Amino acid sequence: MNVASSFVAESLRKSKAGNLPKLAALLQEHQQDLGNFLAVDPRGRQIPAYLSQLSEHVAAEQATVLKELGQLQNNIEHIKEIVTVQQDFARGASMVQTLNISDIVEEALQIHSTMMVRHDIEVRREFEEVPAIQTEKHKILQILINLLRNAKQACEGTPHGEKRVVVRIVSVPGFVRLMVEDNGVGIPPENLTRIFAHGFTTKRDGHGFGLHSGALTARELGGSLGVHSHGRGKGATFTLDLPINGPGVAA
Ligand SMILES: Nc1ncnc2c1ncn2[C@@H]1O[C@H](COP(=O)(O)OP(=O)(O)O)[C@@H](O)[C@H]1O
Ligand SMILES: [Mg+2]
Repeated sequence: MNVASSFVAESLRKSKAGNLPKLAALLQEHQQDLGNFLAVDPRGRQIPAYLSQLSEHVAAEQATVLKELGQLQNNIEHIKEIVTVQQDFARGASMVQTLNISDIVEEALQIHSTMMVRHDIEVRREFEEVPAIQTEKHKILQILINLLRNAKQACEGTPHGEKRVVVRIVSVPGFVRLMVEDNGVGIPPENLTRIFAHGFTTKRDGHGFGLHSGALTARELGGSLGVHSHGRGKGATFTLDLPINGPGVAA
């Protein structure tokens, strides 16, 4: 974040757009005979070419700065994730509590909301009424945050127009089921098992730890994490089942 923000500051400081006031002043000076100035005066004659050069420069600068700011936003997102999970941890929430799953889902969605909007991804909620569950909040948050990030990244990877993530809360006997469905890049059948392996990733900057630890954590909680996809380009659905009565009872 330090590198990105220094870079943005430096770019703006050195921006060629800083020459615009001088140009405006020059034109102001010759307000009375602008036509003549632009057509005849050696300085005036350079202005049209200079302006088109300047606009190219400024457009390029803008693109670089926007790209860098995007990076910055990504990193802020990441920090938010860490802070949320840590705070929950620090609150001593590592014990089993009775919780409304929809509150946890909203908290996880909140973390990703800026990026979802920025990437034009529609987030749809389909929540059924479900009983409160006995569980460990930060563990679920950790799983969900990764599922949502994966869904977001899967959507970013698709060329087609409508990008959508649907989060469902479904009641099943003895369990509360959380589903994160996206219409992104999908998963080829040969990868459906491998994606849970430690270190498996198809992303340039991926770590491949999210699903692995998610599946382990789900099991610790007495539940399970599963996946379904019709294949490449067909989206994916992840399903997290959590026992209503907590890990002890279901295990
Ligand atoms: N929603 C999804 N759509 C398509 N592929 C996915 C999705 N979620 C996970 N994957 C696949 O599973 C891999 C492992 O995911 P994960 O364990 O979270 O690690 P990472 O996100 O660091 O790659 C991803 O690299 C990707 O290939
Ligand atoms: Mg991931």
